[in-house]
Amino acid sequence: MRMDLDDASALARVDAHAVREVLGDFPAQCRQGRAVAVPPPRVKSPRMLVVAAMGGSAASGDLLAAWAAEQVDVPVLVHRGYGLPATATAGTLIVASSYSGDTEEVVSAVTEALRRRLEVVVVTTGGRLAGLAGERGLPRVVLPGGLMPRMALGHLFFPLLGVAAAAGLPAPGAAEVEEALATLDDLAARLGPATPTPDNEAKQIALLLDEALPAIYGGPSSQTAAYRWKTDLAENAKLFALAGALPEVTHNEIEAWGHAGQRSVAALLLRDAGEGPALARRFEALRALIAPAAAAVREVRAPGHGRLARLLGLVYLGQWVSFYAAMRRGVDPWPIPLIDALKRRLAP
Ligand code: F6R
Repeated sequence: MRMDLDDASALARVDAHAVREVLGDFPAQCRQGRAVAVPPPRVKSPRMLVVAAMGGSAASGDLLAAWAAEQVDVPVLVHRGYGLPATATAGTLIVASSYSGDTEEVVSAVTEALRRRLEVVVVTTGGRLAGLAGERGLPRVVLPGGLMPRMALGHLFFPLLGVAAAAGLPAPGAAEVEEALATLDDLAARLGPATPTPDNEAKQIALLLDEALPAIYGGPSSQTAAYRWKTDLAENAKLFALAGALPEVTHNEIEAWGHAGQRSVAALLLRDAGEGPALARRFEALRALIAPAAAAVREVRAPGHGRLARLLGLVYLGQWVSFYAAMRRGVDPWPIPLIDALKRRLAP
């Protein structure tokens, strides 16, 4: 029997680490992240910004890159891996972000940045990265500990905006940030456990995933959220998901829908007010063609008005979807035993 998502005591039994409270506090966490002190980087007007990070920490870089795509005239790259890309040369600002501070790929990126004599800002709670920052006198943003990295997005993301602004790059203005925070407040009330399923979009979407594999498609601005939905579903609900972006998926993945037997896949289309009419037409055409084969097709509108509100709002909705999908399966969303086991195996 699947859990009734409106049953508060059933939720409390499975959600042993109170992830529902961490998610409910996300708007407050964002406000805290916004208030955090950001040391000024020594490079001004960098020719490129590289966020070196993995997993939940890298998601903050994805959000920065997504916001920057239409506003910032220098490349903002998220580097997920060891070392650094060849293009990171003089004039590049490296932001090394790791919530734990012990992620070996990020430590290796910092080592490489120091070898290339690049400017580095470290964003972490502690670990080896904090040690390196102390030894080498690197500017550091100090994050509060005690959370899972993927649940610390507000702490991780807002300081990145501060670092970008301090380096002289465009960043969202106060009005855009305030509107984003108000949008998150509104979502916290609408998506939390106290809002019953008929009024709760996150619970409704989670129900669609009881028997179906989600295929989450975004457009140019919502693809960042689509990928984050996929990783949250994996880590929180321990559930596979597909994530893709239009227009590209309409040139390849669409064919996989053409075969009978895809009735176990549910399409979640993440629509954004900034997608533009050409993309809107493409979403409509995709929807019409895949609907007969899909277990379900559900459109999800990015909440809010400004770009920051839409980006953060969609990601926040996805966090709640993954939480309720975990509840439906009786899965505690907090622990990540396989990620931990892998890190233990590879530990030096
Ligand atoms: C865990 C999570 C992971 C970590 C990743 C990197 O909640 O989201 O994806 O973020 O393993 O670790 P950190 O963020 O500590 O560098």
